[in-house]
Amino acid sequence: MSELVYRTGFGNDFATEAMAGALPEGQNSPQCAPLGLYAEQLSGTPFTATRAANRRSWLYRIRPAAMHPAFKRIDDGLLRSAPFVEADATPNRLRWDKLPMPTKPTDFVDGLVTICGNGDGASWGVGVHHYLANRSMTDRAFFDADGELLFVPQEGRILLVTELGAMDVAPGEIAVVPRGVKFRVELRDAAARGYLAENAGALLRLPELGPIGSNGLAQSRDFLTPVARFEDKAVATQIVQKFAGHLWATEIGHSPFDVVAWHGNYAPYKYDLTRFNTINTVSVDHIDPSIFTVLTSPSETDGTANVDFVIFPPRWMVAEHSFRAPWFHRNVMNEYMGLIRGAYDAKAEGFMPGGGSLHNCMSAHGPDLDSFNAASTANLKPHYWDLGLAFMFETRAILRPTRFALKTPALHCDYDASWSGFDKLFGK
Ligand SMILES: [Fe+2]
Repeated sequence: MSELVYRTGFGNDFATEAMAGALPEGQNSPQCAPLGLYAEQLSGTPFTATRAANRRSWLYRIRPAAMHPAFKRIDDGLLRSAPFVEADATPNRLRWDKLPMPTKPTDFVDGLVTICGNGDGASWGVGVHHYLANRSMTDRAFFDADGELLFVPQEGRILLVTELGAMDVAPGEIAVVPRGVKFRVELRDAAARGYLAENAGALLRLPELGPIGSNGLAQSRDFLTPVARFEDKAVATQIVQKFAGHLWATEIGHSPFDVVAWHGNYAPYKYDLTRFNTINTVSVDHIDPSIFTVLTSPSETDGTANVDFVIFPPRWMVAEHSFRAPWFHRNVMNEYMGLIRGAYDAKAEGFMPGGGSLHNCMSAHGPDLDSFNAASTANLKPHYWDLGLAFMFETRAILRPTRFALKTPALHCDYDASWSGFDKLFGK
């Protein structure tokens, strides 16, 4: 495995060249770009976005990305997009086992499965997908014109080869590939499985820290962006894009990963979740899970995320006189949860790594009976909770399941039973 090189910092203005002299000095598009390269701007925000929000990069490449024949529709497989109208939105609590790995050779694109989503698929909302792959993409590249992709690997390491550089990403890490950036997924292990949040809203960013102060949660310097890396290969390559909810494909005669140099702040990045500076109560009670927000895509309404990415990492539990597990709750926000490894502290059983659960607006949920009993009788000494790593995509609008998600045998038919059997304790 080659040693890949990264630059540190979240959303920084990076400059990187894989060949000396490839970056022009002093301007972005000189009459002739250096080394016979073609200059191309890739913008991830409108030109006139505020300076704080503005994201764009300049790419210096062997051939223009514009040089391709027309795209034609191809089969969407199990990939779905807004408007999610295949099935009724349901107030019922849903939970799935992990989906079976395909038995046929299946790469990242062919193995995409959509579970649920919301929004208009272009300017707001989130799609929740799984990827299941047992082979690398070869002579094939993918990009998503509908949103940026947040990768949450659950099984198997992957190499994300992108136009702007390559990243090794393993379970326990996350990665983001911006909208429009071409990439291919190579497998470092026999198979790869993970979750994807396809964010059509404002670009994911670090949350504000408010009274926490200048440190804590995910820190900018722990985010890694790859350096320029290019292929100069004449090879027939299929380019697949997701556009307005459907897959489209065309073919070019060279590698699209031919960016020799780039500069700017619109680029892929990755983050090791063990770097998260976890903050929690040191007195009483169980804090809202927003305290574990890694990245957020804000909406136009303050404090109301298009989507938040929240983790439930190993941490010290020290609250006194308290029910330390997640409480019973009914929330206006909508929650898709996944489990990267181990267990989740509100469920004694049934929530398996690679699986997922969906609790939509105002659906009542919380600890199951065993977890409730354990949390109610626990010896409240400080202890280090290290049984697993769960996460949540939390979003402002109801997540509507796909037909597949409601038909798959992986869907639990008895999830409601998690909350059965609570005795009347009142008066006892
Ligand atoms: Fe919840």
